[in-house]
Amino acid sequence: MTNKLMGPPVDRVDGRLKVTGQARYAAEHTLPNTAYAVIVQSTVARGTVLRMQTAEAEQAPGVLAVLTPRNTPKLAGLQQYAAISVLPRVTAMQDSEVLYNGQPIALVVADSLERATHAASLVTTTYVEKPATLDLKKARIEPAPGIFGGPPPGHVRGDVAAALKAAAVRVEGTYTTPAETHNPMEPHATVAVWDDPEHLTLYDANQGVFFMRQFLSVLLGMPQENIRVLARYIGGGFGCKALPWAHVVLSILAAKHVNRPVKLVLTRRQMNMQVGYRPFTEQKVELAASAKGKLTALRHTGQSELSEEDSFAELFTGVSGMLYACPNVTTAQQVARLSVSTPTFMRGPGEAPGTFALESALDELAHALKMDPLEVRRINHADTDPEHGHPWSSKSLLECYRTGAERFGWAKRPLAPRSMKDGNVLIGWGMATATFPAMRSPAAAVARVMPDGSALVQCGASDLGTGAYTVLTQVAADALGMAVGKVRMEMGDSLLPLGPLAGGSSTTASASPAVQTAAAEARKKLVQLAVADKQSPLSGLAEKDVLVEDGRLFSSKDKSKGETYAQLLARQNLPHVEGKGDAAPKPEEKKYSSHAFGAHFIEVRVDEALGTARISRVVTTMAAGRILNAKTARSQISGGVIFGLGMALTEETLRDPRSGRVMTADLADYHVPVQADVPDIDVHFVEEKDPHVNPLGIKGIGEVGTTGVAAAVANAIFHATGKRVRDLPITLDKLL
Ligand code: MOS
Repeated sequence: MTNKLMGPPVDRVDGRLKVTGQARYAAEHTLPNTAYAVIVQSTVARGTVLRMQTAEAEQAPGVLAVLTPRNTPKLAGLQQYAAISVLPRVTAMQDSEVLYNGQPIALVVADSLERATHAASLVTTTYVEKPATLDLKKARIEPAPGIFGGPPPGHVRGDVAAALKAAAVRVEGTYTTPAETHNPMEPHATVAVWDDPEHLTLYDANQGVFFMRQFLSVLLGMPQENIRVLARYIGGGFGCKALPWAHVVLSILAAKHVNRPVKLVLTRRQMNMQVGYRPFTEQKVELAASAKGKLTALRHTGQSELSEEDSFAELFTGVSGMLYACPNVTTAQQVARLSVSTPTFMRGPGEAPGTFALESALDELAHALKMDPLEVRRINHADTDPEHGHPWSSKSLLECYRTGAERFGWAKRPLAPRSMKDGNVLIGWGMATATFPAMRSPAAAVARVMPDGSALVQCGASDLGTGAYTVLTQVAADALGMAVGKVRMEMGDSLLPLGPLAGGSSTTASASPAVQTAAAEARKKLVQLAVADKQSPLSGLAEKDVLVEDGRLFSSKDKSKGETYAQLLARQNLPHVEGKGDAAPKPEEKKYSSHAFGAHFIEVRVDEALGTARISRVVTTMAAGRILNAKTARSQISGGVIFGLGMALTEETLRDPRSGRVMTADLADYHVPVQADVPDIDVHFVEEKDPHVNPLGIKGIGEVGTTGVAAAVANAIFHATGKRVRDLPITLDKLL
């Protein structure tokens, strides 16, 4: 398999566990004596908690404790944690300050969820309100910070001002993308258990058990070894489960306070207020080109909203530095500080809103040039990374354009808008480029072959629901020479070997090399045992002359000569044979720029009388290096595309401008696409061999599927109607 560029469509190894309810999610862990915690939220955007009336709640049936800023235990490592400036302040009732509407200000713990919920409704609060900034026009503007220790956004090459002045054709537009909230299916939940006063076990819905353990160790002032974090099954994350939010810390403090395991599950409404969101962006793009369509200038600037005190920017200008061969480029970003909760990474952070602006602007340029929008992209293809000057580790974007256009029938597209009709419905075809960086981080794994002929492979990476269990099982089975069904993968536990954060679409690229190395080492040890064993039919053979298939070792010259792993281990009387693997990015990988690329071709049907835009066809072609599993990969890309369709047409987090309260806090008001909104999505992978990106040539998939989609939809709507909508989501009021 791992010598193929397209892996087989293996079914999810965790599928049966999930559909039969045996895969337990964080909230489904109920230990003996569990108590239930419910958060009380602030109802003002900015101020100080003056008084809280808790007596009634404390006397309500079943209540064990009511924590408020007054009696919440202090976190030992709050100062050290705050010094890690990339992390949002954990508003875990460490003081009386209210920084946003919806912030946790009290926690009620009771012997049942119902009793805790009721008691929480009895808590009343008096605030000293402070003036809140909720109007973007009045926000404090600052240069955008870098995130996670990275440089602040901004890139300059050439002379944009001169090139804009000299241009044959110029377009400019201001594009906005709304705040959006992740809304994974699984709620955020933590079950905190103090095994003894020094040891903590946490069942928590998060994207990285090691990541979470590390941050909690700082916050709590505890050694990492004394904290165990488990997240064996996760029902989606999209970025909102990457960092520790207040509820995680509060459940830990409460469990200590009541000396019982504490379960804290956020409601859907709380998830829409407390665990981050994609910030609103306002982006200006100016493009200039020669009469033949060659880009001569690109300026991409703008701002994203941010909370009062934290450090996060939606890095939307990143794509403009690298996506097209343009000699004169300037990008710059600012943040606009508001009295709101802190935004965070959301699927395709930066690239998703950034490609909306850039790829819409490219479409506007094509229209001004009277050229085919795909042709404009082709002639501005960047053969090397124009920002860093590096070669690409591999790039198959032109092939994505070609096959995508062919599968879609793009050649039949009339140039002029409003050219295609079906009755009173206008039809439009739009396209856009997709791109997302390929990353990886350190990982480790252990593979054990057991006497019963099965194998156990462990890596503390996380499967968000993406298929990581499945593809890592495939990698292990392949390297061990065993059937997928014989290999059991364990993940999502900080007692396992180091796993990466499930972020940046990098789990497979990070964990696969470690799993492969571990499995290959176990296999090598087994081969060595066999050839050195006088009783083995393979005794005396050279190692290289022994092959393994389906858990059976045999001579490459005579397949009938051999024995199974099980037979060998039984005779050797060994409990197991173990291999270990470590993997980390290598310096030579830095000599290349590595990105997954793709293209979306979308057909939209607009009823102008009703203002409705329905997506009727999507063709997405992707080149993302080696694809381990054709089925889970396709799901990842269609899921990414659906995320983009929501961004294009329906999703928008709205706050009450008077109070800062999120108004779209449930799935009735926050509209994610449903089945009826999504047509068949034709996902096609272009085979791509990448010898540089990492040992397996994997670029990662998921987020790249979302990038470009919103622009492709907006471009299709322009083609259908002649109306350019620069503000997402494209709801019907904008098309009437
Ligand atoms: Mo994702 S936004 O990289 O968790």
